[in-house]
Amino acid sequence: MPDFLSLADLGASQIRSILDHAHALKAARAGLPKGATDPTPDLPGRTLAMIFEKSSTRTRFSFEQGMRQLGGSAIVATSDTMQLGRGEPVRDTARVLSRYVDAVMLRVNSHATLDEFARYASVPIVNGLSDYNHPCQILADLMTLEERGTTLEGAKIAWVGDGNNVAMSFVNAAAQMGFSLHVASPDGYRLPGQDVERARAAGADIVLSSDPDAAADEADALVTDCFVSMGDADYDTRLKALSGYGLDADRVARAKPGATVLHCLPAYRGQEITDALMEDPDSAIWDEAENRLHAQKAVLAWCLGAIKSG
Ligand code: CP
Ligand code: NVA
Repeated sequence: MPDFLSLADLGASQIRSILDHAHALKAARAGLPKGATDPTPDLPGRTLAMIFEKSSTRTRFSFEQGMRQLGGSAIVATSDTMQLGRGEPVRDTARVLSRYVDAVMLRVNSHATLDEFARYASVPIVNGLSDYNHPCQILADLMTLEERGTTLEGAKIAWVGDGNNVAMSFVNAAAQMGFSLHVASPDGYRLPGQDVERARAAGADIVLSSDPDAAADEADALVTDCFVSMGDADYDTRLKALSGYGLDADRVARAKPGATVLHCLPAYRGQEITDALMEDPDSAIWDEAENRLHAQKAVLAWCLGAIKSG
């Protein structure tokens, strides 16, 4: 059964299948109470374990509620309350949890922990964010863009700000989904060149620059994220270097009329995004947050063989 560690590991038809299933899952439960089981639940009797090395609001609540809706259940722990936090090896934890649950989601400081966990687990492992990437988030973002009428193939997606883990998952999906990714970041905060080159070799159209206005020009979607991610130490230096790389009304005005503004949240108003954009009554950001739920349910269903992989 497949892991879900990076969108770069999935082909176009697999990502398409997951997105289609996410849309279908969302439509099928319209009007139901949020804790009600889906009309035809994909994962009855299945259990997901979740391990958090870092804070979370959306990931934690959406996965747990998602498992409930799928007909299964979830067990949540922070690593510091597990023996893992006292030095029990990752590989031992992976083998033990594989005897209790059907899948494990981890949010980790180091992506190497996910890789090691996946190597020793005998159940699917889902990436709930690492220092390297955040694939669940980008599935929700792509789902949101499709809901807003954007055809991913040929769309221009502009990322302005830190070339961070969330930006990396756009890189990892660009070739398969056929969108053009324009990333504007200052020196020192660019995406790792090696991953960008790998995506380009797979056919991705990725433009890296230090010009956020050029990135925004005629874009279908404008995306940013916090300037200081969990685990980043250089707070003041980052804010200084990245100031000018956020989203405001002027930058959005450069994009196509009706362009979608996305932010994975949590947002720091006045840093990477203005309060006015956050409070825009037509903001897609709240749909984006909701779609974490539907997209991740589709990921779990895919990992556990409940949908065709395309
Ligand atoms: N966007 C996101 O992953 O949010 P949390 O950190 O709250 O899970
Ligand atoms: N880039 C942010 C995303 C949080 C969901 C972080 O890693 O902290």
